[in-house]
Amino acid sequence: MKQVFPKDFLWGGATAANQYEGGYNLGGKTLSTADVYTGGNKSTPRYVTFKDAQGKIGYATRLEDIPEGATGYVVENQYYPSHIATDFYHHWKEDIRLFAEMGFKAYRFSLNWTRICPDGKLEVNQEGLDFYHQVIDELIKYQIEPVITLNHFDMPLYLADTYNGWAGRETIESFLFFCETVYHAFKHKVKYWMTFNEINILNGYPKLGIRFHDEQTVMQAKHHVFVASAQAVILGRRINPEFKIGMMVCYLLNYLLNSRPENVLASLQFNREMEFYMDVQVHGEYPHYKMKEFERKKIKIDMAPDDLSIIKQGTVDYIGLSYYMTSVSDVDSTELDRVVGNQMTVTKNPFLKTSDWDWAVDPLGLRIGLSKIYDRYRLPLFVVENGLGAYDTVNQEGQINDDYRIDYLKEHIEAMRDAIALDGVDLMGYTPWGCIDLVSTGTGEVEKRYGFIHVCLDNEGNGDMRRSKKKSFEWYQQVIQSNGTNLRVKSIILCKSF
Ligand code: BG6
Repeated sequence: MKQVFPKDFLWGGATAANQYEGGYNLGGKTLSTADVYTGGNKSTPRYVTFKDAQGKIGYATRLEDIPEGATGYVVENQYYPSHIATDFYHHWKEDIRLFAEMGFKAYRFSLNWTRICPDGKLEVNQEGLDFYHQVIDELIKYQIEPVITLNHFDMPLYLADTYNGWAGRETIESFLFFCETVYHAFKHKVKYWMTFNEINILNGYPKLGIRFHDEQTVMQAKHHVFVASAQAVILGRRINPEFKIGMMVCYLLNYLLNSRPENVLASLQFNREMEFYMDVQVHGEYPHYKMKEFERKKIKIDMAPDDLSIIKQGTVDYIGLSYYMTSVSDVDSTELDRVVGNQMTVTKNPFLKTSDWDWAVDPLGLRIGLSKIYDRYRLPLFVVENGLGAYDTVNQEGQINDDYRIDYLKEHIEAMRDAIALDGVDLMGYTPWGCIDLVSTGTGEVEKRYGFIHVCLDNEGNGDMRRSKKKSFEWYQQVIQSNGTNLRVKSIILCKSF
């Protein structure tokens, strides 16, 4: 196959601290919101555990069930998957060696804010910084480019309890202190950064740290996130003008079910909910349609005098996106037509097959999405998450034959290739999600597996954490080696656990 992917294309994999790292109370780290979020599975929801103002323990699946004055609390005998996750904290050397063996050019991961700044206070925990220095040095040893997400779906529990998370303006200062600390520490080692993971679906307690779910509070919190993100871009450029700092959106392209004008409008509005975040972070201003929505809903954002000029100056260098599935707008759809998708309920697309978790598999949607984003923003794009969450089984020979994962990834790589070759999209890299098995955000389980590397752990936390290569490991190695020209599934010698 012809060379299409640029020579310096960033092939690799992606993870996030609260889903992979573990060591939740080691090395000076304090609690994050994710650390009070219990495990679950496809049919059992996750809970936030808290202590109310009278000291009584409570469990909440919905934000509105967390009473005022309650503080996040770790309850004995509950299983919290972030506490150990799949234990990168103790396996980082071994895992990075495996990433290097696959030929990774880049590895995207997030930093644990409370490992570096305990409780999100304006103090540095050197032991936390040293942990990440080791990790980054190890990556550099193998010529793997570190790609750092500054915030991935958690925050210091102290800030959530004290300031109502991102709804409190104080959180901006804490975040910027953390950013400044890590920018200085890693300024000669790290070039690629992104501010907030999936900024468009930041909601709820673990992500935003807020308790009240009224639109006014949520929008105020999101405004603070926009300001923090823009300030982080400005600050990073000041510390090292060579930094490339991007944003990250959960790209859930919406189609219309048919040409009914009401569906066209519904689809436009669905897509705008995503584009809004790119509009702000790329164009540096709140778009006209959002301002009208605020007016209609009587949402009044409390802004400091410089906020809008900060947002204007702090626009990003590239757009990172996660892509797993697409959705459909059909104003006539009923609950029966809806399925749980990536952190939201969506209408089922009758033309697409679905994953074990009912997510619509749509490789062509990736080409369409990349083209749409690139047409609108003309910035380099980076697919920083994509993958198939599936049940894997270890056969009698100790092998995991994950052809379904290979098929999924192959078709998505072909879609990226077409977006570059046929549509002229400027694509920087591809870091499939959960390159090693980790905890699912949506369901809090490990058995929704994405990895090329299997980790021996189940949904209740049983297992010895042994790492083993799945069939997809060698396949991806060959993809990277050939710079995306060889996607064939050859008769790979299956690897046994080691
Ligand atoms: C993205 C998130 O939404 O999707 C990840 O950035 C998440 O944190 C991934 O893990 C897959 O979702 P899930 O629910 O299968 O873990």
